[in-house]
Amino acid sequence: MLEFMLNDRVVRTSKPSGSLLLDFIRYDQRLTGTKIGCREGDCGACTVLMGSLVDGRLQYHSATSCLTPVGNAAGKHIVTVEGLNMDQLSPVQQAIVEEGGTQCGFCTVGFVLSLTGFCLQADQMANYPAAIAAIDGNICRCTGYKSLERAAARLTDALAARPNGDAIAWLVANQFLPEYFQQVPDQLRAMQPAPASANGKPRVSGGTDLYVQQHDTLVEQEVTLLFDRPALKGITVEDGICTLGAQTTVADMLHSEALQTMFPRLSEHLKLVSSTPIRAISTLGGNFVNASPIGDMTAFFIALNAQLHIDGPNGARRIFLKNLYHGYKTLDLAPDELITAVSFAVPPANSRFNFEKVSKRTHLDIASVNTAILIFMDGNAIAEVHLSAGGIGPVPTFLEKTCAWLQGKELIAETVRSAAEILQTEISPISDVRGAAAYKRLLLRQLFYAHFITLFPETINLDLLR
Ligand SMILES: Cc1cc2nc3c(=O)[nH]c(=O)nc-3n(C[C@H](O)[C@H](O)[C@H](O)COP(=O)(O)OP(=O)(O)OC[C@H]3O[C@@H](n4cnc5c(N)ncnc54)[C@H](O)[C@@H]3O)c2cc1C
Ligand code: FES
Ligand code: FES
Repeated sequence: MLEFMLNDRVVRTSKPSGSLLLDFIRYDQRLTGTKIGCREGDCGACTVLMGSLVDGRLQYHSATSCLTPVGNAAGKHIVTVEGLNMDQLSPVQQAIVEEGGTQCGFCTVGFVLSLTGFCLQADQMANYPAAIAAIDGNICRCTGYKSLERAAARLTDALAARPNGDAIAWLVANQFLPEYFQQVPDQLRAMQPAPASANGKPRVSGGTDLYVQQHDTLVEQEVTLLFDRPALKGITVEDGICTLGAQTTVADMLHSEALQTMFPRLSEHLKLVSSTPIRAISTLGGNFVNASPIGDMTAFFIALNAQLHIDGPNGARRIFLKNLYHGYKTLDLAPDELITAVSFAVPPANSRFNFEKVSKRTHLDIASVNTAILIFMDGNAIAEVHLSAGGIGPVPTFLEKTCAWLQGKELIAETVRSAAEILQTEISPISDVRGAAAYKRLLLRQLFYAHFITLFPETINLDLLR
């Protein structure tokens, strides 16, 4: 039996853990405010808020309920638009109405939930860019977005009055949230622990790849839930090694102070990955094992020369992530093995890291080509390079020949130009919906140049590379 809070009450269900939260909300509970659009995480019509206790404090994030197994709701607070209703419109709803942010209304509930999620974020995130980022997973066919952006700006202004500290108390006092939110922590503490997950069933983490690919079979069955396992969570740095639990989400990375220090442009990089509600539930383990040739986090961690920690019936072992892929969706990972963590050496002061991605849309789109680089310098010479790319072959690729050739070379434009030619000899892109093979070759060359222009603006610029 799964137990969680749905709006202001505790609900229990014996539905299979793989059935979808969206269907439970709409068809079992008859809460039809939450809409069904694409069922693939793209439109945001099904957005809900998920709250859980982290170190004793209630934290919320938005999530696409169309890709969330109901098992991942266990022990949490799920908020739909019905759970935000009060006698009057909340300031979020009021701002959307008064700024003309709703027409047909199909998307409106999703925007209300995402913007309420923004209001619930930590104080330092209550700025206009964060408000706009909060709605990057919501699509509106009617309004043209400007009215919704104005609503987001109004909310940012309203939140300026919010004191640091207990956000929920202030949001309740100012009628952003109904009163019952104050009792949620106690109700979550009183809840039964989530039942032990079934073993030997399909393993689901965030579900953002699996439910797009295997929706019909998964919704009927019990699944092995990975997402909330404490042993597979957390980001630590010890003795110069950074270790991330396999079920770390992209949002966890975005909010990690340790990673922000290591990668000053982290938020720029990770905002190119999916959208706010998808980043909150999509995990590293899922990205690696899905084995998409254009997995962004896979390219990111291959360039960090990361190692996977793998556990299985025959014991624990480690492999380099770059060696996980033997062919299209063929992995050096047995079905009964579990990735428990990924680790990498903290990049030293003489190194620089960059990630680049081009997709048809800047946001909420998968890459045509992506690439990441970690480069170690010794004065003006390149001491060591780790370069990865996706979209240029059947698997995410470590570009071995190019890395080897660059080692020991002087960092001048001629070196970068020559390396870009070697790069072309070790890729094999195909023409598909993401672009023609020749276009992908050109893209990777330009992104390779972009790495050097971004990391070494004092030495390399586009004119030098022409
Ligand atoms: C709208 C949308 C936008 C997206 N945009 C992007 C994007 O911009 N960039 C990108 O790279 N991806 C994107 N994705 C794909 C997806 O979000 C990511 O690949 C994500 O990281 C998958 O993680 P998950 O936890 O949801 O995986 P799941 O779907 O839960 O699992 C995927 C696979 O991994 C396996 N698995 C998970 N964890 C482990 C583990 N620890 N050990 C062994 N096996 C494991 C599961 O069993 C399953 O086979 C997008 C998806 C959607 C729906
Ligand atoms: S229905 Fe479109 S994101 Fe869920
Ligand atoms: S108001 Fe119609 S889709 Fe947004």
